[in-house]
Amino acid sequence: MNPMRFDAAFIEQFAALIGWRRDVRRFRRDALPEEVVEDLLRLAQMAPSVGNSQPWRFVRIRSADLRETLAAHADAEVAKAGKAISEDRRALYSGLKLHGLREAPEVMAVFCDDATGAGGGLGAATMPEARAYSVVLAIHTLWLAARAQGIALGWVSIVEPSFVAGLLDVPQGWRLVALLCLGLPEEEADVPELERLGWQDRLDWRDHVSER
Ligand SMILES: Cc1cc2nc3c(=O)[nH]c(=O)nc-3n(C[C@H](O)[C@H](O)[C@H](O)COP(=O)(O)O)c2cc1C
Repeated sequence: MNPMRFDAAFIEQFAALIGWRRDVRRFRRDALPEEVVEDLLRLAQMAPSVGNSQPWRFVRIRSADLRETLAAHADAEVAKAGKAISEDRRALYSGLKLHGLREAPEVMAVFCDDATGAGGGLGAATMPEARAYSVVLAIHTLWLAARAQGIALGWVSIVEPSFVAGLLDVPQGWRLVALLCLGLPEEEADVPELERLGWQDRLDWRDHVSER
């Protein structure tokens, strides 16, 4: 088969993959095989990027101390953010689990290297943020590739980027885009956890499209 011609069954499965991709915070502790993680990173490298600059930098957290420091920091930021939540949502918020940094077998910090010379600056002059968008696409590529193999991903953003960059001692100019937790999910779901818990439903796509 011409690999550029995907058949109807694949197209249906791809839609199912998108429908069943979830942000997961509840992980089993089973380790992920190293070759599987490396394969996900290899696929992420194929993501589109401004000027083909590939500005993503994945830092795999191997140290138990660093992981615990990150988890404790996230807990503190979750508590801090809770103070700004409106009264009517506060009880719901306190029941949310917003990271799986202690349980997930694989934790990565993903940075954007704004100083990269790759791509020669093409496309980034007018929109420097296009580099960070590129990093998001690499994460999304990894997310779908992981999910296709039954591996769940949880995106953690409730952290202070400068704290994480300092803790991980990354080069100047690397901007934190995400902390990622990866592992086998405790459960499968085709509905987002925040929707299931009554925090936020999925909105109608038609309301997000306009014409001029
Ligand atoms: C940029 C970004 C940041 C996010 N940050 C967090 C986070 O800090 N903690 C969390 O539990 N989920 C986080 N999420 C996951 C969202 O809550 C989740 O994607 C959304 O509720 C929809 O659920 P779904 O991904 O399962 O479809 C984040 C997602 C994105 C794209």
